[in-house]
Amino acid sequence: MTEPAHLAAVRAAYDTVAADYLRLVVPPEGMDPVSRAMLAAFAELVRETGGGEVADLGCGPGRVTAYLTGLGLSAFGVDVSGEMVALARRAHPQLRFLQGAMDDLGVPDGTLGGILAWYSVHHTPADQLPALFAEFHRVLAPGGHLLLGGHAGDVRLDHARAYGHAVSYASYLVPVARLVELLEAAGFSVTARVEQPHPQEETRSYACLLAHR
Ligand SMILES: C[S@@+](CC[C@H](N)C(=O)[O-])C[C@H]1O[C@@H](n2cnc3c(N)ncnc32)[C@H](O)[C@@H]1O
Repeated sequence: MTEPAHLAAVRAAYDTVAADYLRLVVPPEGMDPVSRAMLAAFAELVRETGGGEVADLGCGPGRVTAYLTGLGLSAFGVDVSGEMVALARRAHPQLRFLQGAMDDLGVPDGTLGGILAWYSVHHTPADQLPALFAEFHRVLAPGGHLLLGGHAGDVRLDHARAYGHAVSYASYLVPVARLVELLEAAGFSVTARVEQPHPQEETRSYACLLAHR
């Protein structure tokens, strides 16, 4: 099967920037309190519903995957970028990291206790979100939890430079209300939505959505 163009672009870009992403982006311990609170709430909900494996989709260098294990979860990471997966494995050899696409997880139906997609879904074009959220729903066990965290808005951003490198990939921002609609259409119950304003740009925000199957 041919790799979708957006995925090839994302893979190439994050392979290029991986080391500098790790150097420049704040680790989970340094995130704002609201983001950390949402990760903690997600972890508590997954533990309350019996634990089960949690997939960190678009895990990058694996720091958030490791943070989840510190919150008592059994977590593994998936990322399309081989360089990101290599960094994650090097830093966290005790955890499992797989190179692959979150759109096609190769995980049996109804087996995961939770899914985290942290600043990763915005690289999927909006018209492909129904299929992506259907895949998330398929792999979650009944009652399993989803935490989506990341950029929201109503704009496509084409990136020519990132983390000090020349790149070519895009971010497809979707309004929070539309994300809620898409999750509900995929069969999720959305239980919490938190939106924080972008410090410079009125049309963008940072959003966290908690949902369960
Ligand atoms: C902004 S980084 C976030 C990394 C990590 N979640 C964190 O917060 O540190 C986005 C990551 O998502 C990955 N990614 C984007 N779309 C993906 C997809 N469809 N399947 C797998 N990985 C994807 C990229 O390769 C990249 O490592």
